Amino acid sequence: MSERAQRPPAEVRHADELARLREHDTDDRPPGWALSLRAARRFILGDDALGVSRKFVGDPSLIDRSLVALATQRGLMLVGEPGTAKSLLSELLAAAVSGTSTLTVQGGAATTEDQIKYSWNYALLVAEGPSPRSLVAAPLLRGMAEGKVVRFEEITRCPLEVQDCLLSPLSDRVLAIPELTGPESMVFAQEGFTVIATANTRDRGVNEMSAALKRRFTFETVFPIADFDTELQLVESEATALLRRSGVTAPPRRDVLEVLVTTFRELREGHNARGDVTDRLSGVMSTAEAVSVAHAVGLRGWFLRGEPGTAADLVACLAGTAAKDSPEDLAKLRRYLERRRHGDQWKALYDARHLLPG
Ligand SMILES: Nc1ncnc2c1ncn2[C@@H]1O[C@H](COP(=O)(O)OP(=O)(O)OP(=O)(O)O)[C@@H](O)[C@H]1O
Ligand SMILES: [Mg+2]
Repeated sequence: MSERAQRPPAEVRHADELARLREHDTDDRPPGWALSLRAARRFILGDDALGVSRKFVGDPSLIDRSLVALATQRGLMLVGEPGTAKSLLSELLAAAVSGTSTLTVQGGAATTEDQIKYSWNYALLVAEGPSPRSLVAAPLLRGMAEGKVVRFEEITRCPLEVQDCLLSPLSDRVLAIPELTGPESMVFAQEGFTVIATANTRDRGVNEMSAALKRRFTFETVFPIADFDTELQLVESEATALLRRSGVTAPPRRDVLEVLVTTFRELREGHNARGDVTDRLSGVMSTAEAVSVAHAVGLRGWFLRGEPGTAADLVACLAGTAAKDSPEDLAKLRRYLERRRHGDQWKALYDARHLLPG
């Protein structure tokens, strides 16, 4: 993997942590797993003694239930609001359980069975006919043959018939390749094979999934971060790391991040900490969006003026993230910024309200 990859997969980003966990892992492992369940849990939730960072914040019991589901013969379906770290969690689980998170299908309206199961190298197919050599394995076939976790992102965005090609791999643990003959025409799933799917509640709902397929998954809901301080801490550490990667040496200011996270939470929940009703945006105000705005705020401050980002940078960045193309959201945002509050950065936010474009 090149040193300049923008975002290497989890097993590369955290290769040293995985190696340490493996080295100290004396617990029993489910068949085909790269780590024991308890070591996989520590990889995701952190372990100070081994120098393993916490990568997912939230309910630890969600991680336990997810790992147990993966050790059974069912797939795991992570559902939730956008930006609640479903994809991140699926990546971390796959890296922990299989040592690889890259056997991934990205679901969409145009996803085909070829992209999930297998396709052919046409030059070889024409020259030799169908053979194991001309077969090009897609993530599902590889995961089954190698006994690894296959990730299926945004599964509900795929047409129903395409989703259903998971049925027999998940129930009979076999994938037929009718073009081949003999033993090669059946691929039997090896120990360790399973599927982690994610689905977004804002997209087409999970109700669009066939009942037969639903029965083959254990469903877990990933919730937004409930606690203000926890969310602030996460945004701070993620934004600091992103800024460092972008060549910004000044860490983000705590007081600016407090205003940012408060703004996101109030516009997401429709009330403030005291319970006063505020406008709620229809656009997504997730933690993931808060991290990316905090990153943009830091970049603006640094590359435009050589200092950390301020509340005025926040106003300039908000419209593009929070209001997107919705004029109603933009109007709500404008109303939100009209409120006066105590504190230097709140005052700066108020004073910069005219920077909101549109
Ligand atoms: N509970 C959390 N723990 C750790 N990081 C989180 C959490 N919630 C949000 N994040 C942030 O959000 C980012 C992950 O967003 P991710 O793309 O995984 O969300 P998602 O739920 O898959 O969103 P979408 O529905 O849009 O696909 C992380 O990189 C992290 O910065
Ligand atoms: Mg996702």
